[in-house]
Parts: sequence; structure tokens; C-alpha cells
Amino acid sequence: MEQIVIGSSNLTTSRIGLGTWAIGGWMWGGSDEAQSISTIRAAVERGVTLIDTAPVYGFGHSEEIVGKALAHGLRDKVQIATKVGLAWRNGAVYRDSRPQRIRSEIEDSLKRLRTDVIDLYQVHWPDYETALDETARTLEELRREGKIRAIGVSNYSPEQMNAFGAYARLDAVQPPYNLFEREVEDGVLPYAVRNGLTVLSYGALCRGLLSGRMTPQSRFEGDDLRKVDPKFQAPRYAQYLAAVEELKRLARERYGKSVLALALRWVLDQGPTIALWGARRPEQLEPLAEIDGWHIDEAAKREIDAILARSITDPVSPAFMAPPLKRPKTVAVATRDDITATA
Ligand SMILES: NC(=O)c1ccc[n+]([C@@H]2O[C@H](COP(=O)([O-])OP(=O)(O)OC[C@H]3O[C@@H](n4cnc5c(N)ncnc54)[C@H](OP(=O)(O)O)[C@@H]3O)[C@@H](O)[C@H]2O)c1
Repeated sequence: MEQIVIGSSNLTTSRIGLGTWAIGGWMWGGSDEAQSISTIRAAVERGVTLIDTAPVYGFGHSEEIVGKALAHGLRDKVQIATKVGLAWRNGAVYRDSRPQRIRSEIEDSLKRLRTDVIDLYQVHWPDYETALDETARTLEELRREGKIRAIGVSNYSPEQMNAFGAYARLDAVQPPYNLFEREVEDGVLPYAVRNGLTVLSYGALCRGLLSGRMTPQSRFEGDDLRKVDPKFQAPRYAQYLAAVEELKRLARERYGKSVLALALRWVLDQGPTIALWGARRPEQLEPLAEIDGWHIDEAAKREIDAILARSITDPVSPAFMAPPLKRPKTVAVATRDDITATA
């Protein structure tokens, strides 16, 4: 498995990371705990050492499952990346990166993850109601105290990273990045390259669209976010599916690979990147063997761009996933989460 050093930390990790949002169940139509634990263990057995999670995924559930899966011998074999700065109350998620909130949130995460150190701690979304330097300074303090090993931000602009970087040693950024969502190429990716940051690309399969499994008949259960994801709605959905069909052909004819392998390889061939892959069943990890040992050449990259341009005439960004910009008026001070009311 290809490896990468995270920013200027001394953490080395696999370039494929297991994303555990779906494993938390919330916004993915529920999850099966035993299957989730098997998926995490299968990923580690197959050489994936980076596990990405967040407190908000399943309102603590995803972190708890990661903690359980890694207990009894696996913790030291992996790097845990989790996040901070999204709180929830009565099912509503809001941004809160105030120092007091960070201090209480890290203790909850450490407990759920059954560890005494978090390898990569990332601010989940920028909080416009908290001075950026307060958040950055608090994370830098945690690093110096030995509670975290490296610092990242997610969904930040280059300007925000620049301001943050004046107060904390920033090692990584986590933006959406996949064949269909390429906004980072206009700012975040070049910034990361210039400043030695590692890019943890989220949604590397575009929420399963690039898995090759989706059809016009695909249906989603319960609170699955793909029910409202604009890419999965007619008439746009047909454009994305048409692109996947052409990408499948290209992957097969040029490289003898699946479209899923092409999508992950493409992310890895774009720079100092990690591809976060949201598998939630062990068998979904079978294509892992297809991803290493080859590259997408420039001519194929141009062909891919041409396929995207002619198939997707009405592209849409992943902005629908952003939490509201303002905290609810009733939240005056940082509080512990109301887990029972929301889980
Ligand atoms: N920082 C942020 O704001 C942020 C936002 C989003 C995601 N993330 C991180 O990035 C990770 C990955 O993103 P994501 O989970 O949103 O999306 P993703 O990895 O693009 O897609 C996940 C979905 O792909 C499908 N899939 C995976 N492997 C498959 C296979 N072999 N065959 C067929 N389908 C397969 C699964 O759908 P089914 O099981 O339904 O078939 C799965 O739920 C997350 O888990 C999270 O860690 C971070």
C-alpha cells in the first residue's frame, strides 16, 4: 500500500484512508455495528492504516465503533484522524470551535476512541462566530500537551488556512475531492502543495456515484443523504451516470481496471493526496488490490476531462452538505452534546 507523510508531522500513513461516516449510520440510512467493525478490521488487515472519523458521525457512534474495532491490539497499527468543531442539539448540527468546546470535545473523543492520543485532529468546518486564532491556538496547545500529533482543517479556504497557520502548525487539509467535485483545484490544492500540507480527499467515490454500482433504479433507505443530494436527482443524475458509463469503458480498455479503481487512482495521481473511501462492508474493500502499482497518464487524464465536459452539462457542487453558518440563538456557551435526544 502506498504511504505518505502527513505534512511536517512524523506520521506516515497509507494513501487510502477508510472513511467512517457511513459506518456511523446517520445520514446513510443506518448501519450494522458488527459489519462496521468487520469492515474496519478488514481494512487494517489489508494495509489501510488511516481511519477517518468525526464526533458528529452518528452523534458519537462512528467514533465508538472505531474504538471498539481497534481495541485489543490494533490501535498501534493505525493512525486515527478525527475532527472537532461540530456540535449538535436536538438533532440540529451547528459549528462551534470555541476553545471551551474543543477542550470538552477532545475528552469525549478520546473516551469513545479508547485511546490517549489522536493522530490527526481536524477542525471539521470553519466557525465564523469564533476568532480563528482562538481555535488554532487551542489545537496547538493540545499538540504541545501530547493529546494530538498533527493538526488539520476541513472545508477551509486558502485564506482561512493562511490565517490559521499563523497560530498553529498545520499539517493537513480535508476538502471534497473526486472526479466530479474538483473545486479544490482552483485554490486549496495548489495552496496545500505550496505549503507542504497533505490533502485528505473526502467523498473520493462521490458518495458511491463513482463505485460503478449506481443505476437509474438505485433507491436509498431512511435518512440516506443521497435522497436529497442534487447529483442523485433527475435530470442531473442521468448525466452523472452517463459519465460513469464512459469512465468505466476507459478504465477497462486502457488499464483493465474498474471505474472505482480509476476514481481512487485519479485522486492519488493529483498531488500529495490521500483518498478517503467510505466502505461499510468488508467485501466493498476487495478492489483495494487494484489501486496500487499504476498511474493514469496525461493523455488519459485529458480523455477523462473530455468525458466529464461532454456528459455533465449541468454540474453541481457538494455545497448541500455544509452545516448552517450561525449557531442556534439558544446556544450561549459551549455545552456537552445532548446525545440521547439525537442519537
Ligand atoms: N470533512 C468533511 O466534511 C467530510 C464530508 C464527507 C465525507 N468525509 C469523509 O470522507 C469519507 C468518504 O466520503 P463519503 O463516505 O461521503 O463518500 P464516498 O467514499 O465517496 O462513498 C461512500 C459510499 O460508496 C459506496 N461504496 C463504497 N465502496 C463501494 C464498493 N466497493 N462498491 C459499491 N459501492 C461502494 C457505499 O455506498 P453503499 O454502502 O450505500 O453502497 C458508501 O456508502 C467519509 O466517510 C468521511 O470520513 C468528510
